[in-house]
Amino acid sequence: MLKSHSCGELTKEQVGREVTLAGWVHRRRDHGGLVFIDLRDREGIAQVVFNPEISKAAHEVADGLRNEYVIKVTGEVALRPPGTENPKLPTGEIEVIASDIQLLNTSKTPPFYINEDVEVDENLFLKYRYLHLRRPRMRDNILLRHRVEKFMRDFLDAKGFVDIETPILMKSTPEGARDYLVPSRIHPGKFYALPQSPQQLKQLLMVAGFEKYYQIARCFRDEDLRADRQPEFTQLDLEMSFVDEEDILNLVEELFTSLVETVKPEMQVLKPFPRLSYAESMERYGTDKPDVRFGLEIRDLSDIVADSEFAVFRSAIQGSGKVKGICLPGCAAYSHKQLEELTELARTHGAKGLITLALPSDDHASLEHLTLDEVKSVAAKYLTIDQVKEMVQKFEAKPGDLVVIVAGEPNMANRVLDEVRREMGRRLNLMDPNLLAFVFIVGYPLLEWNNETGLWEPMHHPFTAPYEEDIPLLDKDPSKVRARHYDIVCNGYELSSGSIRIHTRQLQEKVFHLLGYSSKEIEERFGHLLEALEFGAPPHGGIAPGIDRVVMLLAGAENIREVIAFPKNQGAVDVMSDAPARVSEEQLDELHLKLKDEALSELELKAGP
Ligand code: AMO
Repeated sequence: MLKSHSCGELTKEQVGREVTLAGWVHRRRDHGGLVFIDLRDREGIAQVVFNPEISKAAHEVADGLRNEYVIKVTGEVALRPPGTENPKLPTGEIEVIASDIQLLNTSKTPPFYINEDVEVDENLFLKYRYLHLRRPRMRDNILLRHRVEKFMRDFLDAKGFVDIETPILMKSTPEGARDYLVPSRIHPGKFYALPQSPQQLKQLLMVAGFEKYYQIARCFRDEDLRADRQPEFTQLDLEMSFVDEEDILNLVEELFTSLVETVKPEMQVLKPFPRLSYAESMERYGTDKPDVRFGLEIRDLSDIVADSEFAVFRSAIQGSGKVKGICLPGCAAYSHKQLEELTELARTHGAKGLITLALPSDDHASLEHLTLDEVKSVAAKYLTIDQVKEMVQKFEAKPGDLVVIVAGEPNMANRVLDEVRREMGRRLNLMDPNLLAFVFIVGYPLLEWNNETGLWEPMHHPFTAPYEEDIPLLDKDPSKVRARHYDIVCNGYELSSGSIRIHTRQLQEKVFHLLGYSSKEIEERFGHLLEALEFGAPPHGGIAPGIDRVVMLLAGAENIREVIAFPKNQGAVDVMSDAPARVSEEQLDELHLKLKDEALSELELKAGP
């Protein structure tokens, strides 16, 4: 290599040795006739000093260096003069006294600072992603991702899993999103679908007898993007034969705990992972991806206020709604403006408003002798003191707390309180950034009713097995069928979903029918899988942790774009290469495609390839 050492690895041990370094000019300073260069490579930064008395020629070249120039430097490692050490840098005790320099390349002035974490418009970062990735934080994220994926591979390899690739051009497999389609040139009018996940293929690998499969698999889903969603993302996809739920859950618990211990030992993990049923999670947190690093749990107050005079509560309960709330410690003194902000948050998620009850704080060691006049709330005059006291008890509220209540349709109330809870968790600093609170969510129903389509939909995907004893309910009351489905959530994010699968044709066909597929559709879309299930398919199950989200949490990032080398922006555009892009009329012709919009089509002609 052009270098003998990397910048980041130099320590006192090399003092007195001649080294050759190569990298980028991170920063340049002139000081009393000396030029100081912070030289950066992948491993870190080393200070290089150019002294005209040591080499006039090298000093001259150094004088003309600008940020991001690429150089090769030879010199002797020396201790920094006392008092000039930099304890923030791992190489802060030493510097390299340059005797020779070679300019390997120049650089235009980058469109944003590389040596400072100053934010700019994200599209600028994405357009010059290769420069953004030079920033130490971004580089560290990508290196962390490498260590995470390597750990996962080694871990599963040691457990006897086989890494098997599956195709990207395939037939649509339902995971609840829209497919990305690829038109076929050879088969006019026909399309491949990019996999939303390798779900059916991994099941077929179980039929094929591989018993333990994994793959770091790219998945494609055309869905609305969010901070934790990209149109293409990566799963640690795995599947095992002859297992039940416990085998998969134990495996992934061990995988995640040892992953954190290995790649991020400074982070804590809740061990063993707590388990919550779907119903309990919805009840206590209003969501099936709770952040359990903090309390502020939701309580159902419907029973307490069922007979209340307060029309908001009464009408909600009469209309089969719920009255639910959370208790915010020490927030009774919230200003009108702060309450308005919370109410606005509630409104954006569907609530008509928020009812708040501010509990008195002055001179109240306990709330035992609370009177109604002391409670600040529009609802106070419609409530009895017993009702308020029952609420206080239910929340174990303390003087100075603020009770926040939502009344209405149960899903809306849950959604709103989940939002308020997370927002308040942030504001009250209740989320320990060094804690990874993994939770298993189990006990999902197999199906949920979609009012819009008037059809049953799978909570997970249609290959998930129901509990054996619930199979008869498929005919009688599908809403009661429990699924052998589990999720892993962490700090409020869904990290993984998985299930034990259906492994007989008869049951799989029954579920497809229940989901509203016709026999013809079933045969067309899933005929291959159904047939495979007839050739000795073993019982099997699996899971697929989303790697982007795992790395995001380990990196302390708030968006998976920060841990993906070349992500798309919020509008699903690759800003760097400007994809998606127009294609030429010839390409469309070859693919037997015609754009519906004639104007667009003409544009294509003009634009060319
Ligand atoms: P599921 O659809 O729940 O399950 O996906 C599994 C995990 O993949 C991640 N994920 C995403 N990450 C980033 N961007 C997206 N658009 C995105 N969509 C999903 C999440 C999620 O928990 N085949 C099943 C797994 C199985 O049953 O084994 C599946 O794909 O972290």
